[in-house]
Amino acid sequence: MTGITVLGSTGSIGVNTLDVIAQHPEQYRAVALTANQNVERLFEQCVVHRPDYAVMSDVAAAEQLQQKIQKAGLNIEVLAGATGLEKVAVLPQCDQVMAAIVGAAGLLPTLAAAQAGKRVLLANKEALVMSGRLFMDAVHEHGAELLPIDSEHNAIFQCMPESKGGRFNGFEDGGIEQILLTGSGGPFRTVDPAELVNVTPDQACAHPNWVMGRKISVDSATMMNKGLELIEACWLFAVPPEKIQIVVHPQSIIHSMVEYIDGSVLAQMGSPDMRIPIAHSMAWPQRMSSGVERLNLFDVARLDFERPDDVRFPCLRLARTVAEQGGTAAAILNAANEIAVEAFLDETLGFMDISRVIEETLADVSAQAAASLEIVLQADAAAREVAQSHIVRLKIK
Ligand SMILES: NC(=O)c1ccc[n+]([C@@H]2O[C@H](COP(=O)([O-])OP(=O)(O)OC[C@H]3O[C@@H](n4cnc5c(N)ncnc54)[C@H](OP(=O)(O)O)[C@@H]3O)[C@@H](O)[C@H]2O)c1
Repeated sequence: MTGITVLGSTGSIGVNTLDVIAQHPEQYRAVALTANQNVERLFEQCVVHRPDYAVMSDVAAAEQLQQKIQKAGLNIEVLAGATGLEKVAVLPQCDQVMAAIVGAAGLLPTLAAAQAGKRVLLANKEALVMSGRLFMDAVHEHGAELLPIDSEHNAIFQCMPESKGGRFNGFEDGGIEQILLTGSGGPFRTVDPAELVNVTPDQACAHPNWVMGRKISVDSATMMNKGLELIEACWLFAVPPEKIQIVVHPQSIIHSMVEYIDGSVLAQMGSPDMRIPIAHSMAWPQRMSSGVERLNLFDVARLDFERPDDVRFPCLRLARTVAEQGGTAAAILNAANEIAVEAFLDETLGFMDISRVIEETLADVSAQAAASLEIVLQADAAAREVAQSHIVRLKIK
């Protein structure tokens, strides 16, 4: 039996992970579930999945959950806060950790899982974007396995050569020319740029192909998601940013490609459903069913490809510059983006001002070598403060 801790079980990736676990009860068991504030959903998940532990980051929410668990007579230990998250990421009965907390809040428990040598199923791209080298070093030093859940990185992983056991280090050895990182272009790919000034959070969250949490949905609308994925791919596959070409592919059927020096291009295709990369990463190197409807190429009929538009989507340019710069620049970009997206979702910042806040924060907070976790966390905190000051200046209400 494989024990899985699901960090962020009440979110979109968390729910999909529990769906896959429930399809294979003889092989997988959720040993711990975590959420921030959503007591109702975590309680429902506890009733169905009977984990050993349930963690609420929010202390008051943890007390509420504790009362409900007690009343229902469930034998589940309830923990609270960051220490609770870190504890369940390293449990002896946990073999795999699904890192599906959104944003920087996921960094410490995800890193703890890597340091404990677990198989880390990485959805929380912000953790890797922030801590890049430190995170990869922890994976290698502690013999952890890092399996990418982002559909694009999971696709790249599947298209990489299997030889030499160096999937994450075999870029040149494997005869690889470049990575073709695909993205749908989000809901505003063809919208008149003049109209983007007034878009609402609900419009930004209406992704054409994927159903996701609100933060990543806004990231997809600004294409910062693709920028974060570019940085993520550099770390996961030990590849410089100039070896990654972003390709806009509106149908989201090809999830990414790897081009080899002989001209071969390998692509991974599938329905846009996160249960595919989740099931793949849980079962790897085997395969297991995911419950996803089969891809019908006759229904898909055509696949389109376009160059990305850096003018319409300035976040792409900012992320590429940061990927080239290295050090704490990515942590600064990530923090400013989180703060700006939050303000946009709260309707206090305009859509077009998201990239502006990030650009101004990058100009104000100097990047340095990301030599320790403390330095990364300091950069994150400094960027949040500066970004907040820009938001106050640009505030729409
Ligand atoms: N959704 C996708 O299809 C998709 C695809 C690729 C990658 N990803 C990545 O996967 C991660 C999760 O995305 P999502 O769409 O599943 O997000 P989501 O639906 O917003 O869920 C986020 C989860 O994190 C928890 N959480 C939020 N803030 C927290 C905090 N401060 N401390 C602890 N837990 C916290 C939430 O708990 P509450 O419910 O209590 O708020 C929830 O369980 C993101 O990094 C995203 O980029 C997502």
